[in-house]
Amino acid sequence: MTTDNFRTLAVETAGAGVWLVRLNRPQALNALNTELLGELSAVLDNAEDAGDVRAVVITGNARAFAAGADINEMAALDMVGILNDPRQQHWQRITRFSKPLIAAVNGFCLGGGCELAMNADILIAGSDAKFGQPEINLGIMPGAGGTQRLLRAVGKSMAMQMVLSGQPITAQQALQCGLVSEITQPEFTVERALALAADIAAKAPLAVRLAKEAILRGMDADLSTGLRYERQAFTVLAATDDRNEGIAAFREKRKPGFSGR
Ligand code: CAA
Repeated sequence: MTTDNFRTLAVETAGAGVWLVRLNRPQALNALNTELLGELSAVLDNAEDAGDVRAVVITGNARAFAAGADINEMAALDMVGILNDPRQQHWQRITRFSKPLIAAVNGFCLGGGCELAMNADILIAGSDAKFGQPEINLGIMPGAGGTQRLLRAVGKSMAMQMVLSGQPITAQQALQCGLVSEITQPEFTVERALALAADIAAKAPLAVRLAKEAILRGMDADLSTGLRYERQAFTVLAATDDRNEGIAAFREKRKPGFSGR
């Protein structure tokens, strides 16, 4: 894809089947304004449609993944403005993304930035990362999923602590409470996320897609509903070429060549 027209982020192909998206508003610590969210939403549209894209890594820079919604832009919105806010559609686009999305987080990951990272399927943090929902300091509260996703990711007590006090937590705390799955040295965060993405990109895409969907659905469902969905998805995969290929390759002691069918 061409990203020549993008002003707030850059996209590059980073290995077979993997796109790396870098948020690029360093002057505002990558604050998420409408333009950035719109461009991110367009990139994910393209990634969704591109058959050769199997995973996407999203990152910021060494200082910030993203320091939240753009406060200057937000200040101009009254209640009706927020009700009609086009950013809501962009957030929905991000949430709907069906391919694996990995966040490589260094530095500040606050407010909408933390909410964006929580939309990723896997979060890898540099040891200097700071995660927080500081909206309370502005007299508001998280509005892009923070209260709900944080609750599900880290449990009630830590979610309450972060949202009500506005104090950020360290990468180490984020690992302990399950918000991130790994910590790296900051200079290796993107590298580690890309390696993971490359590994996932080599798997059978339909199995990856349905497994992701099963986990996400399970977060919103009771156990028996989640188990029923899992069983249906597992059964559907029995009809795929890649399932036959995966099993044949195991038996023939060779690497599988997945076709995505
Ligand atoms: N929106 C707009 N601009 C931002 C921003 C934001 N969220 N965060 C930082 N910036 C800008 C600063 O205004 C500053 O710009 P200028 O140089 O033009 O003054 C620049 O980025 C650098 O920031 P600082 O000088 O403040 O850097 P620092 O190292 O002293 O502090 C910080 C870093 C602690 C992250 C501080 O910038 C900060 O507290 N930022 C705001 C964090 C925040 O409240 N986020 C929540 C936003 S609301 C939200 O996200 C709602 C939602 O749920 C969707």
